[in-house]
Amino acid sequence: MKKIAVLTSGGDAPGMNAAIRAVVRCASSYDIDVFGIECGYEGMLEGNIFPMDNRSVSDTVQKGGTILRTARCPLFLEKEYRQKAYENLLAFGIEGLVVIGGDGSFKGMNSLYQDFGLPCVGIPGTIDNDLAYTDFTLGFDTAVNTVLSAVNNVRDTMTAHNRACIIEVMGRKCGDIAIYSGVAGGAEIVLVPEVPYDIDKVVQTIKYDRIKGKQSVIIILAEGVCSCAELKEKIAEKMDFIQIRTVKLGYIQRGGTPSMADRVFAARCGAKAVELLASNLKESRVVGIKNNKIIDMATEKALAMPSKFDKELYRIASMLAK
Ligand code: ADP
Ligand code: F6P
Repeated sequence: MKKIAVLTSGGDAPGMNAAIRAVVRCASSYDIDVFGIECGYEGMLEGNIFPMDNRSVSDTVQKGGTILRTARCPLFLEKEYRQKAYENLLAFGIEGLVVIGGDGSFKGMNSLYQDFGLPCVGIPGTIDNDLAYTDFTLGFDTAVNTVLSAVNNVRDTMTAHNRACIIEVMGRKCGDIAIYSGVAGGAEIVLVPEVPYDIDKVVQTIKYDRIKGKQSVIIILAEGVCSCAELKEKIAEKMDFIQIRTVKLGYIQRGGTPSMADRVFAARCGAKAVELLASNLKESRVVGIKNNKIIDMATEKALAMPSKFDKELYRIASMLAK
């Protein structure tokens, strides 16, 4: 294999640039030419394809976002558009593809393989950590650290006023950003879509926290449960003995300089992806991490794995909130 392309797709995540850099730099060690595709599958469809070299990725390892930019492209769900996109790849002689994105991007990549036999490797780039085949996804560690910084700031001011604050975090239907932020940030309450919550129990916990003399109450709410405004309303219907404030962290979780962990993870994934393609891969596979080892598996198998939920960590979060 002498020519490959790389793209970023779906929600961006810190570390994507480190992964792009690893793909480009490792490919040059195998004498493989790399083409960048701008704006994900939308760019593939429009032919926004250009050659990259080691200088193309200079001064990027520390940057959030993605130098290739990203997009969501509903047209890609239709084979006729994938056909046009594939023909654009052929025009550049591209023989393999690296896709950095989440489960939706992997589905698009797998469709390209199924339709046209294009060898592909997926790198799990999403802050949500919602891919069951890998312990972590790229950007998750950085996103949780961003949430922790916000939790610290919020706790300072809530303590000053003896208030409660609901901090809404991202994750789509996955509660991992909330759970990890809750455990690491010392939240009193963590609400996730994987576990139905009882509003009366939430109110009771807040009440006991006040009785125990807590100066502030931090509630971390995964967006897949409900909005922070909705939860505030539900709590306010049940009690008025503490002022409640809300913070929706939103897109600050998606940016920022990637953590060491995400930069190293990105480098390992990029190196593995290139190694697979350089070995003349004839499949669609994804790379990930299990027990700190870089693994790869068929995309179909990875996408078919049931979503994971760390019950033990969720239990610990509850036990620590004393
Ligand atoms: P993420 O990769 O972060 O989960 P999305 O779910 O938006 O983000 O998927 C990114 C893009 O992948 C979509 O905009 C679309 O272009 C493509 N895609 C998603 N699902 C499919 C599918 N089933 N078939 C083909 N392409 C898909
Ligand atoms: O999938 C990553 C993510 O940040 C989710 O956590 C969030 O719900 C979604 O993307 C937001 O999507 P968009 O960037 O299209 O508004």
